[in-house]
Amino acid sequence: MEITFLGHSCFKITTFEGKKILIDPWIFNPKAPKDVDLGPYDYILITHAHGDHLGEVAKLARSSVTEVIAIHEIQQYLLEKGLPRVIGMNIGGNYRAGDLIFTMVPALHSSSFSDGRYAGEPCGFVITLEKDFRIYHAGDTGLFGDMSLIGELYPLDLALLPIGDHYVMGPREAAKACQLLKPKKVIPMHYGTFPILTGTVEEFVEELSKYPYQPEVIPLNPGETLSLK
Ligand code: NI
Ligand code: MN
Repeated sequence: MEITFLGHSCFKITTFEGKKILIDPWIFNPKAPKDVDLGPYDYILITHAHGDHLGEVAKLARSSVTEVIAIHEIQQYLLEKGLPRVIGMNIGGNYRAGDLIFTMVPALHSSSFSDGRYAGEPCGFVITLEKDFRIYHAGDTGLFGDMSLIGELYPLDLALLPIGDHYVMGPREAAKACQLLKPKKVIPMHYGTFPILTGTVEEFVEELSKYPYQPEVIPLNPGETLSLK
């Protein structure tokens, strides 16, 4: 499988069997690479309705090959916008799509549309790929104790965790999150996009060094890809 960081919280995953997944499709974020794959994707996942996560979904999901997966309230909104295929689910549920499983898990944050309307609860996703390879995208979140349940129930090969602080976990909280989630590898996200997202990879690594559990930290620059067998 391959995972490409597209800046901020946006990731492209190509699964072992070649399915293309895009998470939090703000593909024109200030740090995004110039040559972003515009799809069509097989699946686009939305963690919550803030503009830096909903992003360009309305443009990217026009094709009927693309299935958008989001919480019920965002599903209703995107269907109103005319997108052809949007799956609505809710926290705690699993959506099985071929050999993949998308599990919607809690996130501690807020969520509203740009006009202020309620957009349901924010969420994260555990994505179980073929071969039971599991990726957790935390969405925007603060630290919460039930991350230990996520780690226990869905042993994680890879976690995508926010470290930018202010709106999401900072480095100290993200290091503690690793103790609860126990992922094998971590890719930091949601930092450095704007000046207010001050958390850095160096601080995150420093905070992690104070704890017994040390996942492998793999910082990716926007446009960089991690390939795993
Ligand atoms: Ni947000
Ligand atoms: Mn955000």
